[in-house]
Amino acid sequence: MSRFLSKTARGLEPYVPGEQLFGEGIVKLNTNEFPYPPPESVVAAAKNAAKSLQLYSSTDAKALREKIAETLPSGLTYENISVSNGSDEVLSFIFRAFFENGVVFPDITYGFYPVFASYYGISYREIPLDASLRILPADYCGINENIVLANPNAQTGTALALSDIEDICASNPNNIVVIDEAYADFRRDGASAVSLIGKFPNLIVVRTFSKSMGLAGARLGCAVSSVELIADIERVRFSFNPYNVNAMTQAAGLAALSELPFYREKCREIIATRAWFSEKLRENGFLLTDSQANFVFCEHKSVSGEVLQASLREKGFLVRRFSAPERIKNRLRITIGTPGDMQKLLGAILEIIGTKAV
Ligand SMILES: Cc1ncc(COP(=O)(O)O)c(C=O)c1O
Repeated sequence: MSRFLSKTARGLEPYVPGEQLFGEGIVKLNTNEFPYPPPESVVAAAKNAAKSLQLYSSTDAKALREKIAETLPSGLTYENISVSNGSDEVLSFIFRAFFENGVVFPDITYGFYPVFASYYGISYREIPLDASLRILPADYCGINENIVLANPNAQTGTALALSDIEDICASNPNNIVVIDEAYADFRRDGASAVSLIGKFPNLIVVRTFSKSMGLAGARLGCAVSSVELIADIERVRFSFNPYNVNAMTQAAGLAALSELPFYREKCREIIATRAWFSEKLRENGFLLTDSQANFVFCEHKSVSGEVLQASLREKGFLVRRFSAPERIKNRLRITIGTPGDMQKLLGAILEIIGTKAV
C-alpha cells in the first residue's frame, strides 16, 4: 500500500477471484464457466460491432433490453430490465441504491456480497446455513431487513423453491429482496423468481450471461424488477458509468439470445453430467450437497480438500476451495465441464484417493 492510499481504500477487503490460468493441458473447473465457446453467430456479431468502436456504446442498450424482455414472462418490457458489465456491477448498483440501512445474507454464499457492503460502508449480518449447508427460508421471513440470496446458492448449489421466495418477499414488504439467479438455468425444475416480479414490488432478480450463456469474458448481466426499482438502479448507473456495457458485448448478448436452443441444450447436458458425476463421487466416498448449479460442492471422507486440490492441480485440473469458514475448508467446488473433461477428472480423482486415502 502506498502512503497516498486513502483510509477508506485501506479498509477494503478485495474479492479474491478463482485463478485464471490457461494453457495446454489445463482443465479449468474453478470459476463455473460454460465449457463451450460461443456459436459462430455470436463471434461474428462482436466482430461486426468492433468496426464501429470509434463510437460510444448505446447508453440505454434498448435493443438488448428488448430482446431480453422477449425471453421473460409476458407483461415485462425493456423498462423492467437494467443491463450491466457482468452481474457483479448491477449487484453493486443495488447495494448503493437500496442498502443504506444494512443487508442480510447467508454466511456461506457469493463472496462479493460482503465486499460490496464494505465498499459502500454498509453494515451486514450473516445468517448461518443449517448443518446440511442449506438456507433455511424461515430465517429470512419477517425480519424487516434487506436481503440478498443467491438461488441456487453460490458454493453450495442448493436451491430454494419459489414458494419460499414468495414467503420471504411477502413477509418483508418494506425491504428489498434480491434473488441472484446466476445459476438458475441449471435447476432441475427450471424455475425463476422473474415470474414473481409482478406480484412483489420489493423483489429484484439478478441474472448473468456468464454461466448458462457462456459470455463470462464479455461481461454481461442484468437486473429484472418493477419499472420503479429499475429506474432507481438506472439512476445509480448513470451516476457511475452510462456506457457500462460496451458495444461488442451488447452485440454478442443480442446474438446469443438468438441462439437459445443451443444454450438450453448444453444446459441440459450439464445437468445430466452433474447427476452422473455426483453419483460417481457418492459411490467413491464423497459427501455432496444437492447442487442445482453448474458445479458440485463435495468433500471426501478421508482425503483432505487441500491434498485433493493440490494433487488435481499437478494433473492439470483446477478446482476451487475456500479456506473460510472452517466448516467448508475441506470441500471442493468443482465446475461441471464437458462429459469428456468430467470422465478424465473422475479418473484423476479415483487415482488420488486410491493412493492418498488413509
Ligand atoms: C452467485 C453469483 N452471482 C454473481 C456472480 C457474478 O457473475 P458475473 O459478474 O460474471 O455476471 C457470480 C460469479 O461467480 C456468482 O457466483
